[in-house]
Amino acid sequence: MLNPLITTIVNPTAIVVAVIATLLVVLVSSLKGRGWEPATDISDEVLQRRAAAVPETEFPEPGNRSIGGGGGGGAIPAGGEGEEGELEDGAAGGSGPGDIPEDEVEYFEVEFVKQGETVELSNNEPILDQGEDQGWDLPYACRQGQCVSCAGRIADGPSEDFVEHDNQQMLEDAEIEDGYTLTCVAYPRGSFSIETGEAP
Ligand code: FES
Repeated sequence: MLNPLITTIVNPTAIVVAVIATLLVVLVSSLKGRGWEPATDISDEVLQRRAAAVPETEFPEPGNRSIGGGGGGGAIPAGGEGEEGELEDGAAGGSGPGDIPEDEVEYFEVEFVKQGETVELSNNEPILDQGEDQGWDLPYACRQGQCVSCAGRIADGPSEDFVEHDNQQMLEDAEIEDGYTLTCVAYPRGSFSIETGEAP
């Protein structure tokens, strides 16, 4: 009678214990088996192999020099200096009317029709600037010849018979023929009458 009872009580417990023990053993053994140490050993080996290869490429300075000096260092300074030099030479050439020295300045009588006055203007300052010097509120925006806000009209003929434009970028030839001028970049080179605030 005891044997069957013992076996019915012991067997389930023994099975559970055995299963748990087995799982623990498997887990422990599997962890030990994977062992993280070999991974670190492998990386060390790789590092050692790379270290062994370093002597073959131990020319970092020449490499750096070729990248920095051959690419940016050589081409950019050479081209930049050349272009800058040319621009500076051109600018220093004094081709613009604004560069006329004071002892060579000429003056012309210019009638401002809308203002009802005739004044003497120099040939080394824009009409706009000299009109403002008179205290007149003349129209303008960019002051660089890139809009038509400052436009005026010289009724006496083509504007460039009377003014020199220094880099005007807006007026077409026909408009210049009609007498239009951009006063912010127009330098007198004769006497004339002008209506300010007149755009084509
Ligand atoms: S203000 Fe713009 S072109 Fe004269």
